[in-house]
Amino acid sequence: MNLPDMKEAKSRHNDIVDFIYKDPIQSDVFNGKKCFIKTYGCQMNVHDSEEIAGILENLGFEQTEDYEQADLIILNTCAIRENAHDKVFGFLGRCKHLKKTNPELKLCLCGCMAQEKSVVDEIMTNHKYIDLVFGTHNIHELPNLLMNLHEGLNIEVKSNEGDVIEVGEVYKRDSHYTAWINIMYGCDKFCTYCIVPYTRGKERSRKSTDILKEVNCLKEQGYKEITLLGQNVNAYGKDFTDIKYSFANLLEDLAKTNIHRIRYTTSHPRDLDIETMEVMGKYDNIMPHLHLPVQSGSNDVLKKMNRKYTKEVYLEKVNKLKECVPGISLTTDIIVAFPNETEEDFNETLDLVRKADFEGAYTFIFSPRTGTPAASMDGQIDPDTAKRRLLTLNELINEGFAKGNKRFEGTVQEVLVEGYSGKKDHLLTGYTKHNKLVNFEGDESLIGTLVNVKIKKAFTWHLLGEIEK
Ligand code: 5AD
Ligand code: SF4
Repeated sequence: MNLPDMKEAKSRHNDIVDFIYKDPIQSDVFNGKKCFIKTYGCQMNVHDSEEIAGILENLGFEQTEDYEQADLIILNTCAIRENAHDKVFGFLGRCKHLKKTNPELKLCLCGCMAQEKSVVDEIMTNHKYIDLVFGTHNIHELPNLLMNLHEGLNIEVKSNEGDVIEVGEVYKRDSHYTAWINIMYGCDKFCTYCIVPYTRGKERSRKSTDILKEVNCLKEQGYKEITLLGQNVNAYGKDFTDIKYSFANLLEDLAKTNIHRIRYTTSHPRDLDIETMEVMGKYDNIMPHLHLPVQSGSNDVLKKMNRKYTKEVYLEKVNKLKECVPGISLTTDIIVAFPNETEEDFNETLDLVRKADFEGAYTFIFSPRTGTPAASMDGQIDPDTAKRRLLTLNELINEGFAKGNKRFEGTVQEVLVEGYSGKKDHLLTGYTKHNKLVNFEGDESLIGTLVNVKIKKAFTWHLLGEIEK
């Protein structure tokens, strides 16, 4: 049993990154068994679930969409805000009684919540019906963990992982056209509200040779789009001790593979450099969209958040980006009601939103996370004020969303067709280079291809188009 330890998770004492190459484990021990994976949270978790699904398939499991039919239920969890916590325990409660009809059923919890000491304490006292808890650094150990489960609650959580584990093409990817690629793990920024540096460990970059190999392999398989993943991708390469190789270098080398589309997320305004903006402007296969979380427009709040940039520096970078990549579409993340946020602070955020011309944003009410500095700050904001600020902000963000869509009316846009829109109208759906959702009529055979679509009408959340003959 290895329990999580927040102090250990915070430490950054292990400077040397080991690169460990692992071959996928193939076995038929679980042949005929069904597994169900439920994922909460960010793209990183979605991609981790693709790894988990690949590992389970190699062990003989078959995936099911119906958790009531499963022999193994895995919840890949998110710790970033409190509301995810309630959803996870709510769902686990529903799974618990399934053990009566299927005594063989195993329940597992993994992901960021598994790295939280408070969560694991709660599991040990109130949820002993769970069979396995494993952390974000233990995914590659899953075959052994499952094969060696002993009776009762098993907990395997590493708190301080400093290595890069290369698992090869073990992923069972959700799409045949778009793929997530980890380029780095962890985060060393320690924004005062954020749990991620504790749950995901220190910043460590994959070798560019391994990333390039993966991209070339995906390209050969017919993938059209890749999205590079990391908590702070702009810090890529900063941990290399032997060579100087930055995110801009990686982006340029990947652009030269001629894969059709490259995106990346998430960026940090402090580390986003001019070289990266120039590379973005130089290559047509790097998409003209950037998600650049600002969090707040108030310099006081930014300081308390430990973001290490000002509103002015952020806007300067935005202007430079617009110069390097004309027409770029910008989206962001914003937190309202951070401790001590005043009406003036909030108005500074509204002002920044207008000036940056965001075309979309994820907006959040500050959620105190146990163990982070902001959770114990004085001046927590009352829920009514927080909700009012969120609503005001969302109205402004939605205006930006609609305006960002409107600018494409009457133009022709390249769309990567992802499938049917899922609504009754049976329209095809996909994203433009600027990451705008487009629905249009077309044949099933177009799924997975790039087509030119004339944009007929813009709505707030999507565009309606027609294939350009
Ligand atoms: N409370 C509210 N929002 C948060 N985020 C991260 N931590 C918190 C928190 N404690 C938001 C940030 C981040 C996004 C992924 O989640 O805006 O960019
Ligand atoms: Fe969290 Fe800040 Fe790191 Fe983003 S940069 S993951 S917000 S600590």
